Amino acid sequence: MTYHIIAERPQDAVLLDPLLDRTFGSDRHGKTVYRLREGLAPVPGLAFSAIGAAEELLGSLRFWPIRIGAAEAILLGPLAVEPALQGLGIGRALVRHGLDTARALGERICVVVGEPNYYQPFGFSNAEAAGLRLPGPVDAHRFQVLELAPGALDAVSGLIDRADERAVAFGDERLAPFPVPGEHTGAQNQ
Ligand SMILES: CC(C)(COP(=O)(O)OP(=O)(O)OC[C@H]1O[C@@H](n2cnc3c(N)ncnc32)[C@H](O)[C@@H]1OP(=O)(O)O)[C@@H](O)C(=O)NCCC(=O)NCCS
Repeated sequence: MTYHIIAERPQDAVLLDPLLDRTFGSDRHGKTVYRLREGLAPVPGLAFSAIGAAEELLGSLRFWPIRIGAAEAILLGPLAVEPALQGLGIGRALVRHGLDTARALGERICVVVGEPNYYQPFGFSNAEAAGLRLPGPVDAHRFQVLELAPGALDAVSGLIDRADERAVAFGDERLAPFPVPGEHTGAQNQ
């Protein structure tokens, strides 16, 4: 199975809701993470699609602006892969590429609510233990955080909040098409 990770295309955004319904179910909107990103756009340069040989959408990953007190951070998710194509490494390739790109863009802290077994290999660890809290109910063991820059969590703790002001403040330079460094294929990512 050959696939590529690319910057999300306008046509992918249209297909995303049906893909998320198929993977997460349609009751997903009540989750705390949805309220953090509701009405905001993903961080410019941090929305990715996995596409197949015919350029069809196979999977998606987006990151959203959040803040922890005065510190800027990003929220990973949703991560979704077409049900028939799960388990082929596409999800991990999206996460790896997304985190690498976030580091390259200077992001420092990444938060996720997801399965620890899936995210720990990328370096995520429990966020409650790191002193972070979400503004709503969450399964504590699924709430995780990753320092994208060493020491980024030093002196950062407390309540995670929406980053409406940051979404407005993104400069034009980050809205420019982001060059995707190299291409990921199934063969390279197994
Ligand atoms: C979770 C998901 C994004 C993973 O993508 P994927 O392309 O299927 O996963 P990969 O092929 O990269 O990785 C497969 C590995 O992840 C594990 N895995 C898959 N889904 C998992 C889950 N929900 N929890 C824990 N581990 C999971 C598999 O067991 C497999 O482990 P192995 O390599 O040790 O056998 C995809 O299965 C999906 O869309 N699921 C439905 C939506 C969802 O639950 N998203 C979670 C976001 S937190």
